[in-house]
Amino acid sequence: MIYLDNAATSWPKPESVYDAVSEAIRRGGNPGRGSSQRSKAAAMDISEARAAVAQLFHIGDPSRVIFTLNATDGINMGLQGMLSPGDHVITSRMEHNAVTRPLAYLEDAGVRVTKADTDPVRGVDLQAVRDAICPETKLVVMTHASNVTGALNPIEEIGGICREHDVPFMVDASQSAGMLPIDVEKMNIDLLAVPGHKSLLGPTGTGVLYVSPRVAPRPIKSGGTGVFSHIRLQPEQLPYYYEAGTPNTVGIAGLAAGARFILERSVSGIFHQEQQSLQKLISSLSSIPGVTIYGPVDGPRAAAVSFNIDNMDCADVAMILETYYNISVRSGLQCAPDTHRLLGTFELNGTVRVSPGLFTTDEEIEAFIDAVREIAEDA
Ligand code: ALA
Repeated sequence: MIYLDNAATSWPKPESVYDAVSEAIRRGGNPGRGSSQRSKAAAMDISEARAAVAQLFHIGDPSRVIFTLNATDGINMGLQGMLSPGDHVITSRMEHNAVTRPLAYLEDAGVRVTKADTDPVRGVDLQAVRDAICPETKLVVMTHASNVTGALNPIEEIGGICREHDVPFMVDASQSAGMLPIDVEKMNIDLLAVPGHKSLLGPTGTGVLYVSPRVAPRPIKSGGTGVFSHIRLQPEQLPYYYEAGTPNTVGIAGLAAGARFILERSVSGIFHQEQQSLQKLISSLSSIPGVTIYGPVDGPRAAAVSFNIDNMDCADVAMILETYYNISVRSGLQCAPDTHRLLGTFELNGTVRVSPGLFTTDEEIEAFIDAVREIAEDA
């Protein structure tokens, strides 16, 4: 099977991730709950995981790395914790439902939402973001990279604008964390939501929310922390303020192994390797008659490439790839209807999305290109 759906979840994982998960579940222990050797070992795993993740994103204080279920969980914590009725928030037009749906609920509750003009290749318009900022603006939130096209939003520039206006900035790094360099200080990011199971190479059910010292979203969950048990409300110390209940120790051990795997190779090394293979994929794909590629075709990007074949429904193309060529991709709206409205592919039921990963080989890309060529010839 040729797996080209890494934007949904990365596969395979490094051997060290499988080993870390297996060791953690066999060892057991609830971190911070009790003083058994197992509990202490589990706590040590969690603390090392926080340190590894902090290093990846240039986070000075690892206690500001909050473990979550996935990027969506962290985005909900940030949005619901930062925004109240009467507030204003700015976002882009190429967001995943992980951002647009929580914002839609908040909009119904009286938060004003501006979706700033966005170019499908260059990302959100900087002047549109500047123009939208007003005294009520309490947050700017946007994806680093489109999960449909791989197009990047100009995160560092937006971070600069936000800092200039003293507006907190939240980034959805679902498609970038682990494969594009992210420095929360340099990019002025106040809240960074990251999935553990995509380019960080960890298990599903893991994620991270970084909370900068400049913001303090209200916690949207409360419960046991294992420490400060005598306090009536959630203790304000980090990470306890935002972490309630037994953590996913097993998953976090796997996530830490993924983060260490990336640190050993360096994000910039991974970035160069993946950019080269994406360029090859795009130039081969664009040479096939009848294929239309959406979004950027050159320059730095994330590893999601969307296309359609003339006269064919994207779901049929994905089905043929899976059934006759044993190649996995994702078709449809990919949970990002706004992006498809921007691309003009909403009415086409979306696109075929191909997303190679760190372990995708040149031979696999070639087999995929040959398959698309044959399908397009028969279309
Ligand atoms: N958000 C993931 C995707 O784009 C699941 O496929």
